[in-house]
Amino acid sequence: CGIVGYVGSKAAYPILIEGLKRLEYRGYDSAGVALLANNKIQVFKKEGKVAALEELVGEQEVPASIGIGHTRWATHGEPCDRNAHPHVSNDGSIAMIHNGIIENYAQLKAELEKKGYTFKSDTDSEVLVNFISDIRTNNDCTLEEAVRVALNRITGAYVILLLDENLPNTIIAARKGSPLVIGIGEKEHFLGSDASPMLAYTKDVVYINDYEMVIVRPDELILKNHTNEKLTPYVQRLDLDLAAIEKGGYEHFMLKEIFEQPQTIYDSFRGRLDVEQARLTLSGLDAIQDKLLAARRIIIVACGTSWHAGLLAEYLIEELCRVNVEVEYASEFRYRNPILDENDVIIAVSQSGETADTLVALENAKKKGATVFGIVNVVGSSIARLADAGAYTHAGPEIGVASTKAFTAQLVVLQLFALKLAQLKGTVSPERFTELVKALHAVPEQVEWILNNQLDRIKEVARKYRGARDFLFLGRGYNFPIALEGALKLKEISYIHAEGYPAAEMKHGPIALVDEHLPVVFIATKDPFYEKVVSNMQEIKARKGRLVAVVSEGDKVAETLAEDLLVVPQSDELISPLLAVIPLQLLSYYIGVELQLDVDKPRNLAKSVTVE
Ligand code: G6P
Repeated sequence: CGIVGYVGSKAAYPILIEGLKRLEYRGYDSAGVALLANNKIQVFKKEGKVAALEELVGEQEVPASIGIGHTRWATHGEPCDRNAHPHVSNDGSIAMIHNGIIENYAQLKAELEKKGYTFKSDTDSEVLVNFISDIRTNNDCTLEEAVRVALNRITGAYVILLLDENLPNTIIAARKGSPLVIGIGEKEHFLGSDASPMLAYTKDVVYINDYEMVIVRPDELILKNHTNEKLTPYVQRLDLDLAAIEKGGYEHFMLKEIFEQPQTIYDSFRGRLDVEQARLTLSGLDAIQDKLLAARRIIIVACGTSWHAGLLAEYLIEELCRVNVEVEYASEFRYRNPILDENDVIIAVSQSGETADTLVALENAKKKGATVFGIVNVVGSSIARLADAGAYTHAGPEIGVASTKAFTAQLVVLQLFALKLAQLKGTVSPERFTELVKALHAVPEQVEWILNNQLDRIKEVARKYRGARDFLFLGRGYNFPIALEGALKLKEISYIHAEGYPAAEMKHGPIALVDEHLPVVFIATKDPFYEKVVSNMQEIKARKGRLVAVVSEGDKVAETLAEDLLVVPQSDELISPLLAVIPLQLLSYYIGVELQLDVDKPRNLAKSVTVE
């Protein structure tokens, strides 16, 4: 979910709506705002995207200069008007928005029901606002005190923002486990899940930590911990421009972000890679060098697309550094009591740096003494702050829900990580090191080539197969994770069922799906597996499957087998996946466009999943 807040002298409603639109990538099942004017709280909420909320409010007067807003990714309760935030206490005096999950809500709800409280929604959030209201009534205390008492009694994760009818210019907010940023303006403050809602107004921000709460007024920002001690807010200046979070002439953020990749790939190695000197600097890695060199194994923890980057890194690091690597889904890892100690190094891969499962998995690992290295895109995010050391991916804000440029930037940083560690361990020869550094350095231009030369072909393939019911994506070695990523992108954007598989493993199941209707996308770039992949293509062709192949420039063999070829420049087998994924991103994008779907906000998904 995304949360915003404003308190100052401007009209709050347009700021909240604009802010919610910027945060919509975090969820778009429903949206709502609460505004406070003349000691009266006004709530508007609606199922669907922020546009539906705007339509609901229409031309109505909303004169307030303080308000809170929410865009929801449903957890408890189906997406509908009733379950949309804000939620209001039974007595109507407090409005609250919540991102997260209150785990002991059922017990609290039962207690409140006994006291006569009633609930309009199925949400844990409505329970929390009434719990807070009940504490305030019973103890005859301030809202701030009631919030503090309540937070000490609940379990779960949250960021909450509250408005109180009796506090005409105050927002109270608190966080544990979900992000909260405060923007500082001239006699005004902005609140958000990230800095995007405030970027048009200020670049001075304070990131709030877990177990902290804030009392925000136009000219005052009071930061406290849960035991009521005042803390000094640490104000940071954002290094981000508004243009970075706008579409800039592209039809969709996803397309803009795909096209940004020559630049973002370059940015992820800029300043780290010196091709002339064949030198590589990764200061984050230096910071944990001793731990890394002593580590018996490296464990990579991630979710979604970031997990695919992690899988590729397993192959890379094992090959180059001769150290054991395991790749784990964060959601599994955190619950299965893994054997960990101070000899383990964990690499966390996350675009947002806020994914709840990854975050908690890391907290658990740290408790057991493991060292955490973060590969994160969002600067200042929770995972970035929790990590012992790390390297940012520098892809810039990624807004399209399906990850594209963040993935390629993750791959680059993981390649740099593997190369640097191999150099330190002495497991790569200087010649091979130079070769790989050169290959990596050539990638931005090669991606540019794909974008300039393959677009028409990809659009054509998208048109041809837009009606397919299923898709298979196959690759071997370094291209197996790319097959998984190709399938995931297509599922996310087009809702077409797609599976990624190791090309040879396909014989053990998915081959049963092959008939004259099934498009099978092979990644058949020139690498040591090429001949084997070609054999697998033969097996599909023999069963009348429709072959699409991502091939290296100049390929002659695959050409005779596949109906459609998507060409990428030749590169080293370790680097080539960075190129192979580009046509697959574009293919899913154009299929989504052909099917007239909302590619930036695919149904049921959210970009940043801050609940487990
Ligand atoms: C969500 C997003 C995916 C992303 C995954 C992990 O599912 O829709 O695009 O790969 O979360 O997110 P992270 O921010 O940790 O990389």
